[in-house]
Amino acid sequence: MCGIFAYLNYLTPKKREEILELLVNGLKRLEYRGYDSAGVAVDSAEAKDISIIKKSGKVALLAEEIKNRSDELNMGVTVDVHCGIAHTRWATHGVPNEINSHPQRSDLQNSFVVVHNGIITNYKEVKVFLEKKGHHFESDTDTEIIAKLIYHFHQQHPNFSFRELVEHVVQQLEGAYALCFKSKYFPGECVATRRGSPLLVGIKTRTRLATDHVPILYGKDADSNPEHRPHGRGEFPTLPRTGSTSEFEPLEDKQVEYFFASDASAIIEHTNRVIYFEDDDVAAVKNGSLSIHRIRRAGDDPQKREITTLKMELQQIMKGNYDFFMQKEIFEQPESVINTMRGRLNFENGTVTLGGIKDYIPEIKRCRRLMLIGCGTSYHSAIATRQLLEELTELPVMVELASDFLDRTTPVFRDDVCFFISQSGETADTLMALRYCKLRGALIVGITNTVGSSICRESHCGVHINAGPEIGVASTKAYTSQFISLVMFALVMSEDRLSLRQRRQEIIDGLKNLQNQIRDVLKLDNKVKSLAEDLYKKKSLLIMGRGYNFATCLEGALKVKELTYMHSEGIMAGELKHGPLALVDETMPVMMIIMRDPVYTKCMNALQQVTAREGKPILICEENDKETISYSQKYLEIPRTVDCLQGILTVIPMQLLSFHIAVLKGCNVDCPRNLAKSVTVE
Ligand code: UD1
Ligand code: GLU
Ligand code: MG
Repeated sequence: MCGIFAYLNYLTPKKREEILELLVNGLKRLEYRGYDSAGVAVDSAEAKDISIIKKSGKVALLAEEIKNRSDELNMGVTVDVHCGIAHTRWATHGVPNEINSHPQRSDLQNSFVVVHNGIITNYKEVKVFLEKKGHHFESDTDTEIIAKLIYHFHQQHPNFSFRELVEHVVQQLEGAYALCFKSKYFPGECVATRRGSPLLVGIKTRTRLATDHVPILYGKDADSNPEHRPHGRGEFPTLPRTGSTSEFEPLEDKQVEYFFASDASAIIEHTNRVIYFEDDDVAAVKNGSLSIHRIRRAGDDPQKREITTLKMELQQIMKGNYDFFMQKEIFEQPESVINTMRGRLNFENGTVTLGGIKDYIPEIKRCRRLMLIGCGTSYHSAIATRQLLEELTELPVMVELASDFLDRTTPVFRDDVCFFISQSGETADTLMALRYCKLRGALIVGITNTVGSSICRESHCGVHINAGPEIGVASTKAYTSQFISLVMFALVMSEDRLSLRQRRQEIIDGLKNLQNQIRDVLKLDNKVKSLAEDLYKKKSLLIMGRGYNFATCLEGALKVKELTYMHSEGIMAGELKHGPLALVDETMPVMMIIMRDPVYTKCMNALQQVTAREGKPILICEENDKETISYSQKYLEIPRTVDCLQGILTVIPMQLLSFHIAVLKGCNVDCPRNLAKSVTVE
């Protein structure tokens, strides 16, 4: 919702005043997208350094500030070559104030400055890394690490070009970004890149070309509009996937202006010759020429050893005091759930905005049914939220395993809305199901953790769950974040329903308290560990529950299976007497989830059926629920939240349990046998 605008004039004389006016006007064109502060960076009056002007609030205030500083900015001077960058910010990390506004800088000398749209999900780890190297941070933003990181690389590799530096930087970033850089070491140059967030460049040459009436378009947006195929000079063929470059040379007289922006509306008044960047394009203007290079990610290029070492160093920092990534990711959930809600849920006025699907909500409201499709843990997050989706959308909701859905060649129609849930966004089965539904004209919505992934690209719209990188093969924090994303979707769908007002408020309040309650659940770690000691030599574990907590049984059993190689089954408590009860005797390990929700009495019936067969279940129940606890010697007490969110809290002891059993059994926690993090085969 925020904006980037940058302007570079090459051998095109401009007064500094004009340049600043141009930058401010660019920002004004982006105002409609919403923002809370604004800023620009230009060469300082003597052109030796960089001046940054920032202001919280409206662009008009920034314009006023520029005017107030006009003496210092030497407005009357004309420059032939200059690069200026500008930004409107929608705060995600740190309050809207001047320090947190962009451009963010590398150091007190403003050696490198950067503007950023998006969220860097691994900024904390990079920050620790950089602090260890002696960099001091001044803002609360995630963005500041980018400015410091490029400076760090520059100090290490003084001979690298600006573009090479940026390429090194983006290899370390996780999350979403569109970026524009400026540096006092590279005057008159600008480097821009993107992943997940939009970015384009407009090119204006003084001499008109025969083909000038034809816009240059390139990339995704060009493909989708056959009228706009590239023509003539400065034509950009679609780049192969990695490691190649296209060049744009201006005309003989070399005069050229470049306009970088996150939105075409800031460019059209200057030129209609634009190039839309694709993910991983790095565009650099140097000596007036624009080159676009598709970078190789570290994984693609074994040559980039240094990057790999740094990656490993960052991973080590990420692991922090934990022995395993999975453990770290379990304990990270108080923060990851907040990151999922960040910038989306406003607890003060009870509004929920999902920027990624906002424009599609009217269409979704008109649909015939919702289909939620996934595999493994992602499928469980759909089961966990189905009841709430039915309640708040009043639409039929189908939950499907991607592979089975395809086997059945399930009928899908134009007025269906299909959700595809995948942590990596690359899960092959889910992706195939997506293509199947897309072909049949359904609206495709992605719920992914990985910006720029296949599911993200091929979906019409979607929600990034913003849980941050998940490295442990067994998914934990992605589950709770998928859960919350789907809950937020249900809240958006019911926004204007008066009759649901109280229910919505109760859920929003529940979400607000979630972070502290997760912290409380995590305190059970030692208790869970001692349960694991009792269980790890057993052959099997049954996990029973129903209603809102059934998904926890399935997800808990999946965690136990994949991590500990022990047999485990999630059993719908209502089904006990239809078969599974036969498994129960005094030796069979059983866990039961019994919360004080609408199915409490039914769960208690199941509990009695189990204890009547000499079963000795471990209970997961509500804090201080003496009555329920009295049925068993072993229990875990979980704080109470709204019924439909309870599953977020009950799943955490199951994550911990499977983890501890795996450690006790000496299993490889982060890479269980036969499993891969991202299942890209059918
Ligand atoms: C966006 C920014 C976020 C910024 C926020 C506020 C990106 C990626 N996100 O988040 O960094 O803080 O605005 O300004 O720039 N999409 C799919 N399929 C998916 C997931 C997402 O097509 O599976 C699409 C969405 O429709 C949307 C885009 O990707 O067009 C970004 O989605 P998301 O990150 O969820 O949007 P915001 O929450 O608005
Ligand atoms: N995450 C960055 C911040 O909070 C950028 C937000 C934006 O896209 O404007 O500063
Ligand atoms: Mg998409």
